[in-house]
Amino acid sequence: MEQQNYHMSPEEFRHWGYKTIDWIADYLENVEKLPVLSQVEPGDTKAKLPNTAPQQGESFAAILKDIDDIIVPGLTNWQSPNFFAFFPSGISAPSILGELLSAGMGVQGMLWATSPACTELETHVLDWLIDMLELPLHFKSTQTGGGVIQDSASSATLVALVAAREQAKADISKLVAYTSTQAHSSVEKGAKIAGISKENLRYIEVDADYAMNPEALQQCIEKDIQAGLTPFYLAATVGTTSSNAIDPLPQLGAIAQKYNIWFHVDGAMSGTAALCPEFRWIHQGLELADSYCFNPHKWMMTNFDCTCFYVRDRAKLIQSLSIMPEYLKNQASESGAVIDYRDWQIPLGRRFRSLKLWFVIRHYGIEGLQHYVRKHIALAQEFAEWVKSDVRFELAVNPPLNLVCFRHKGGDKINQAIVNNLNSSGKSYLISTKLDQKVTLRMSIGQATTEKLHVQQAWELICQIADASESI
Ligand SMILES: Cc1ncc(COP(=O)(O)O)c(C=O)c1O
Repeated sequence: MEQQNYHMSPEEFRHWGYKTIDWIADYLENVEKLPVLSQVEPGDTKAKLPNTAPQQGESFAAILKDIDDIIVPGLTNWQSPNFFAFFPSGISAPSILGELLSAGMGVQGMLWATSPACTELETHVLDWLIDMLELPLHFKSTQTGGGVIQDSASSATLVALVAAREQAKADISKLVAYTSTQAHSSVEKGAKIAGISKENLRYIEVDADYAMNPEALQQCIEKDIQAGLTPFYLAATVGTTSSNAIDPLPQLGAIAQKYNIWFHVDGAMSGTAALCPEFRWIHQGLELADSYCFNPHKWMMTNFDCTCFYVRDRAKLIQSLSIMPEYLKNQASESGAVIDYRDWQIPLGRRFRSLKLWFVIRHYGIEGLQHYVRKHIALAQEFAEWVKSDVRFELAVNPPLNLVCFRHKGGDKINQAIVNNLNSSGKSYLISTKLDQKVTLRMSIGQATTEKLHVQQAWELICQIADASESI
């Protein structure tokens, strides 16, 4: 019988590979012309798909055509220079190529032995980043600590929580975790997954700049100890999601040390600012942290997923997560001379993520990466000046970096109208939050291709919508 072969031939792969790269280049070149927020209705994308999977394989030409016809209309275009929502999800050409190579190699780096280069490049690039951001040296793999790439800041928070839980010498029902009212929802989710009950997660109040109040934390801890509970985990934020508040790490870290609490710092988006010496103040006090993470997949032009997670003492992390079934035993692991990253994360399998990060750092150099951080912060500060000089608007807080929180003084309804109308125009996209119970607009500037004219255009649209809405 003739041998059946359904694969793409190497020649076909080359042909469609080049076409796919062409598609990506065209998409990125023209993404500015597409609506930023997808304009489809619920069910529109699904309605264009056949009810059942194809019995016979289809041509790649047909598949690629459906990307344009079915998928693109249903995209919210995160790579548009007019994207100002959430925090950025940055990408770049070298990062895309790194992803492609990782996919092409298809290796699993769960053990050092299953692809030594996957582990060693990751360790090395994460050590580079310690110097690049001037992070505490004990996070280095050459010292007591070490860095690992997690899929997300949420996973980093969870992994730190589990390590903290394993260190704590108390019944889980007695363990109490602390964070601020402004912390990202991943802290609550992590606590849920790690078995910390909702009643044992404390949301500490914040000051006028929405940063955690150390006195309130101290009081809360004292009260819990008196009630026979055991404080075990404190999650602080460098750059909160709603308003970019920077928690006071020196005071919080001192409290954590005093009560022997694991101190985790989440620098998801804002940590990247520390590439520039003039913004390194955001990490003041980080030397007191047991663990830290920031996301190159937000503001460092590296495709999702890529969270750099560091620990002060890798032994504590490994003790918490290591399990050794027979089928994973190997000489390299037993020698103790290698890192097995499976012991630093939740899943067993892991992609070769450091390739894209390595490519980004090598392509841009520290200088190139600093350029974009400085540019975004300068654009945000300029936008804040426009807000301040318009009597109809006010800043909700002075923007520390590249996120401007502001509002129309006319109240929630008009601010909501601005967000809704701006987003449905497809010309620009931002989201709102609530600060002090008031609807607040968030202008988040971190998209690699955003220029002043895009920020100006967004501001003009906001002003036009405000003019039209002032009668509501
Ligand atoms: C401060 C902060 N922490 C955590 C996260 C969650 O990030 P990830 O999607 O990497 O889990 C975000 C997302 O915006 C964030 O702003």
